[in-house]
Amino acid sequence: MSQTVPAAELLARVHDIVGDALQQTETLFDRELQSENAYVRDILAHSRRFRGKRLRPILVLLSGAACDGLTDDHPVLAAVVELIHTATLVHDDVLDEADVRRHVATINTRWNNETSVLFGDYLFTHAFHLAASLSSTLACRWIGAATNVVCEGELMQVRHRGHLELTEAEYLQIINGKTAELCAVSCRLGGHFADADAAIVEALEAYGRDLGMAFQIADDLLDLLGDESAAGKTLGSDLAKQKLTLPLIRLLQTCSGAEGDQVREWLSRPDEQTAGRLLPLLRKSDSLTYARTLALEFAESARNRLAQLPASPARDLLAEFAAFAVARNT
Ligand code: IPE
Ligand code: IPE
Ligand code: MG
Ligand code: MG
Repeated sequence: MSQTVPAAELLARVHDIVGDALQQTETLFDRELQSENAYVRDILAHSRRFRGKRLRPILVLLSGAACDGLTDDHPVLAAVVELIHTATLVHDDVLDEADVRRHVATINTRWNNETSVLFGDYLFTHAFHLAASLSSTLACRWIGAATNVVCEGELMQVRHRGHLELTEAEYLQIINGKTAELCAVSCRLGGHFADADAAIVEALEAYGRDLGMAFQIADDLLDLLGDESAAGKTLGSDLAKQKLTLPLIRLLQTCSGAEGDQVREWLSRPDEQTAGRLLPLLRKSDSLTYARTLALEFAESARNRLAQLPASPARDLLAEFAAFAVARNT
């Protein structure tokens, strides 16, 4: 395992390599989200109060740079994937009844669920409006297909809510859809629009998918163990919404008898005490280590995919982002 580089240092290196393109991405993102409507302008102003990590745009741009082929299309693609991602977060906060996102009140808390649903739709339509400005229709097709898979992942998750028999394979299928797919297509677009060979584009896509898997397993650990003020979002909603994640799947598999019955009882009737009750059992068992190990394995696999690419600072930085996906606290 390589040493993890702190987030601020990673960001400084992103700026060294693709800083101009990232700045253009921000400009395009902001320019796309303009409205004459005062209500919409208020919501947009609120959502601009704090930016996210911009992971998916960074993946698009670094993938392009790693193929030595950044074009004017890359910032557009990067802004589009961030619009899609932001739309999914706005909807996700309704599903999870979350109060805080990116360190500020969620749209559903500051306004209401109706506004969130419609504002999420508004972000999706802006994404495709912006994607349609590209001369090729391929990006629209790929991003549309990926967004369909993200929605299917979210739908699978809703379908399995409260299912204590959810298997590890089913969980991995859900996170592959809801999270890894958008990371994968971000890298694929970055490589393809840099005119890279098909094998390189495929390696980048596989890298993005593995990184996305690691990222969501780490996110699910954060939901159980993280610090809300550092994460800048409401945590604990996986238990509250009866979304079974890897540590709990493992705990259910490994504890038996009365202890197993007790865990099932707690999970079936979640309240404010549930996390506190489960944590000692999670710590005593190998459940947390098991999940962390799988996240690290995905990150390692992501890094190995990069061996197909020619050596470059952008490739090295992509490798660091695979480690960051697991080590982050935000
Ligand atoms: C949050 O994504 C949703 C997940 C897939 C876990 P990020 O952690 O990338 O959110 P922002 O964009 O930085 O807010
Ligand atoms: C990620 O799941 C949701 C999407 C991919 C939209 P989570 O529900 O775990 O995301 P957070 O933790 O709220 O950011
Ligand atoms: Mg959520
Ligand atoms: Mg989460």
